[in-house]
Amino acid sequence: MTETMTEVMMIRYSFGLLAERADQAVPMFFGRLFELAPRVRMLFPGEMAQHQKKFTMMLVWVVERVDKPAELVPALRDLGARHHRYGVTSEMFEPAWAALIYTFRKVLGDAFTLEMEACWMRVLEVIASEMERGAEDSLRLAS
Ligand code: HEM
Repeated sequence: MTETMTEVMMIRYSFGLLAERADQAVPMFFGRLFELAPRVRMLFPGEMAQHQKKFTMMLVWVVERVDKPAELVPALRDLGARHHRYGVTSEMFEPAWAALIYTFRKVLGDAFTLEMEACWMRVLEVIASEMERGAEDSLRLAS
């Protein structure tokens, strides 16, 4: 998924800094996502706390395996197929990634470098494209 050791280290280091301030980062991320894409809020009729926890744990899982595409890709495709069933569409990823980058910038300040941002954008593109692929595959199987 990420190509060099430096990229893997940048992803893990920046995510570690964000995780240290998870109490601030997690609500900031979801607040920003719903500001950018208010319709996404309707997918969560009740408590958001559950998805916040699941989303965060999945991101931790991805960061741990960022250099292991053989493990990552099938899990992301399955996740994408399930998200399709929850009503999540591919256009929802763009505001989600914008909200995540916003959160990194706000929480880490200057410690979040442009190189780190570029590495994250590559990782997020892979997450979105594999989840979309999983959704498409599940549609093809169902038809
Ligand atoms: C804007 C994009 C997204 C929306 C609107 C969304 C929405 C949802 C909804 C409605 C559920 C089912 C309710 C629940 O279990 O709480 C769910 C479950 C879940 N989401 Fe998301 N999600 C999004 C992106 C993501 C991403 C990018 C990840 C991880 C990288 C993720 C990880 C999970 C996990 C782990 C679950 C638990 C159920 C399962 O594994 O299928 N979500 N999501």
